[in-house]
Amino acid sequence: MSKKIKDNSYGLIGWPVKQSLSPELHNHWLAQQGIDEYYSLYEVSPDELAEKTQQMIKAGIKGWNVTVPHKIAIMLLVDEIDATAKAVGAINTIKVGADGKLFGTNTDVYGFLENLREKAPEWNKDKPALILGAGGAARAAAYALKEAGTTKVYISNRTFEKVEALCADLGGEPLVPLQWQERESVIAEVSLIVNATSLGMAGSRELELDISQAEKDTVVYDIVYKPLMTKLLEDAQDRDLKVVTGFGMLVHQAIAAFKLWFDATPDLSDGLVENIEERFK
Ligand code: ATR
Repeated sequence: MSKKIKDNSYGLIGWPVKQSLSPELHNHWLAQQGIDEYYSLYEVSPDELAEKTQQMIKAGIKGWNVTVPHKIAIMLLVDEIDATAKAVGAINTIKVGADGKLFGTNTDVYGFLENLREKAPEWNKDKPALILGAGGAARAAAYALKEAGTTKVYISNRTFEKVEALCADLGGEPLVPLQWQERESVIAEVSLIVNATSLGMAGSRELELDISQAEKDTVVYDIVYKPLMTKLLEDAQDRDLKVVTGFGMLVHQAIAAFKLWFDATPDLSDGLVENIEERFK
């Protein structure tokens, strides 16, 4: 970052973080809203997380996002965790109180759901949904769909014990564990398919999922946003199914953090989001 980091700045901690889009979003919105703050990147390795956290509080930093690999470990270092982060089992946003105490929440849940509501408002929550994966992203998606009142949510993951742990932690109903080999058996009955694995991401192998049995009104949502159009989404588009890319989730989780820190709502009508999205195509 070329600009000097102010004592009272905001930012993102992770390892690595240099590829993050968050500074571009937040610094644009800060300037847009006339707020004299700055959002920086903090490269923090796992073994220095506790020490760096204390240093950031002492330096007067008022809030930061948390990304891989610290989303779970940071839970032990905060003073208060809200119900969403507790249920998901991960924190992605921290706000420092006037007394220096840390409040942790998870805006990925809001980001996931807001993106779905914006891009596919016709999504039918009275029909079942299928989530692939059982990591942090899948937990956020499962919690969001449960909170939204989805009648049934199948969760399928290569490592089945993680599915069982996810369902137990999130309180069972309407979550239904499904073996990884069985994932295609429910395609015809679901109205929403969510890829919350890392499969399909640039540098990873492709997700194997035959969606030929999907009904015409099925929405296919990929949390992976690099590439923007994954093979799964291309398959879905070829079948005239509605697709939702993961990019909007990234934008909306950032908006939720911005609102929490600055009590202000970014104006999305100025083309920034579309410009960034264009770069991902
Ligand atoms: P995140 O926090 O982004 O969800 P994560 O916790 O590392 O990241 O989760 C990655 C997800 O991708 C997991 O559900 C993982 O399955 P396992 O729990 O079995 O590891 C899934 N995943 C990664 N590589 C996979 C592969 N080759 N086949 C099937 N699933 C895979």
